[in-house]
Parts: sequence; structure tokens; C-alpha cells
Amino acid sequence: MHNAAFDALGLKWRYVLLPAPRERLEAALAELKVSGYAGANVTTPHKQVVMPCLDTITKEAQAMGAVNTIAVRDGQLGGYNTDGAGFLLALRASGFEPRGQRAVVMGAGGAARAVVHGLVGAGAQQVVLLNRTVARARAMVADLAGYADGRCELHALPLTLEALVESTRVADLFVNATTLGMWPRADASPWPSHLPFPAHLVVSDLVYNPQETRLLSQARDSGAQCVGGLEMLVRQGALAFQIWTGESAPLEVMRRAAREALER
Ligand SMILES: NC(=O)c1ccc[n+]([C@@H]2O[C@H](COP(=O)([O-])OP(=O)(O)OC[C@H]3O[C@@H](n4cnc5c(N)ncnc54)[C@H](OP(=O)(O)O)[C@@H]3O)[C@@H](O)[C@H]2O)c1
Repeated sequence: MHNAAFDALGLKWRYVLLPAPRERLEAALAELKVSGYAGANVTTPHKQVVMPCLDTITKEAQAMGAVNTIAVRDGQLGGYNTDGAGFLLALRASGFEPRGQRAVVMGAGGAARAVVHGLVGAGAQQVVLLNRTVARARAMVADLAGYADGRCELHALPLTLEALVESTRVADLFVNATTLGMWPRADASPWPSHLPFPAHLVVSDLVYNPQETRLLSQARDSGAQCVGGLEMLVRQGALAFQIWTGESAPLEVMRRAAREALER
């Protein structure tokens, strides 16, 4: 989607893949500074470990505890996080405004951190975090408590059937920020198959491959409103594009290219 966007704006830039296993991460970052790169995206599992290697980090990315975008300027590496803002843009584009709403977020990895930070910043009333490893969810609540500053109630619960049913019963939004349902395990779902999906929820699945996840089809079958992960992918990418180039991203070009790549 980035190469399609560069082409559409007539920029002679290229987005390439750089393999960076953990033991080569520092070397890969040093290469960015001297090899003419304008920046990079960072993906799991490097979103947190990359942080001590950067020269500057935005307040937002610091509060999230994760970086997904790096810009190279004057030989310095700047860290940003566009996932939270990308998530909010996708949610709002679907017509859902988080202010004053209650959300249940499943997962406690880098993506969940960005989502919870985004929801708190947007004025959500309450966020319940459900995670298989509850210690990770508790650590996230502790990390984000200062940012929430009493404006938003944050709770961490272990991922049990009872917690899922009880928390979603009174929620407005359900977000899947786990890897459940992602290719090649597309038959998996964070929502148990024997349990009817609550039709009153808006559901946002961060998984974008496949575009129509099992969770989304369970939700759609019950009449719930769905937001797929592709729009967040495009929006976070568009924000990164703007950071690197200083130009507005051609959203529709990026959306079409991302969809075509996933359908290939
Ligand atoms: N649409 C977008 O733009 C976008 C952006 C970022 C990420 N994503 C997607 O978001 C998802 C999460 O990414 P991430 O970077 O946060 O990954 P991550 O840091 O590896 O976290 C994975 C999360 O999934 C949970 N999980 C994994 N397998 C599970 C299972 N069998 N049962 C219950 N929970 C399970 C983990 O729980 P434990 O803590 O217990 O291990 C953890 O909370 C991925 O599918 C990624 O593609 C999408």
C-alpha cells in the first residue's frame, strides 16, 4: 500500500522488507541512519524492544509503551505510534464515537496497548481488559493508570467465559486485539461458538488477514455492527506515510492496494 501511495504522488520512494531478527535489531537500526532511509515500520515482536535504541520518542508512544513507526531525520531516529490513532480513525469512520462508551478489549500485547490508549484519549468511560495471561493485562492497566487519571475506569480480568459474558453484557464495544482468527488459524475465534454473539455490541477485529474473520461473521450473523482490521491497517499506514513524506496520504489508493495484496 505504501508503494502504491508513493507512485500515486509521483515520489521515487520504495518501501522494502528488512529482515531484522532480535540479534540484528541494533545493526538494522544503525543501517537505517546511514543508508538513505526516511524511516521504517516496526512490527511484533520489536515494538517494545526497539524503544531504548531510539533518539526521541513521542509522548504518545511513550505512554503506549510501543513504537510502530520510525522516522530518520538529521541522522536521528524518532519513534512514533500510529496504531492508536489509526484504530480511532477506523472506528469513527464506521460511525462509532467512543466518548462516554464502555469497551471490552481482548488481548494485552502491543496492539491492545495502542487501542486502550486510543480509547482513554477519546474519552471512553470504561475499558475492561481480558487476557489469557492476566498479569500482562494488569501490567498494562498499571502503566496506563496515570494517563487515564480517573477519567476512564480501567479493569484487568483473566480471560474466562464468565468474565467475557459479564463484561460484554454491559459494554458498547468489543475489540479483538489478540491473534485469534489470524491466518493460517482462520477457523479460530475469540468468541466461543456455542455462545450467541450479543447483537447490541459494535465489534472491532484488529485481525486483517483474513478480512472477514470468524468473529466478524459470528457478529454479523447476530446483527451486530462490524469494523474489520483492514481499515485500521490502512489508517495507521496513512499516518506513517504523512510522518515520512510530509504529504497527505492517498487513502483510497492505499485501501485498494492493501485489499488487492490480501486477496492475491
Ligand atoms: N489492523 C491493524 O492495523 C493492526 C495493527 C496492529 C496489530 N494488529 C493485529 O492485532 C493482533 C495482535 O497483535 P499484537 O502485536 O498485539 O500481538 P502480540 O503482542 O503478540 O499479542 C498477542 C495477544 O494475543 C493473545 N493470544 C494469542 N493466542 C491466544 C489464544 N490462543 N488464546 C487467547 N489469547 C491469545 C496473547 O495473550 P497472552 O498475553 O496470554 O499471550 C496476547 O494478548 C494481531 O492479529 C495483529 O495482526 C492489527
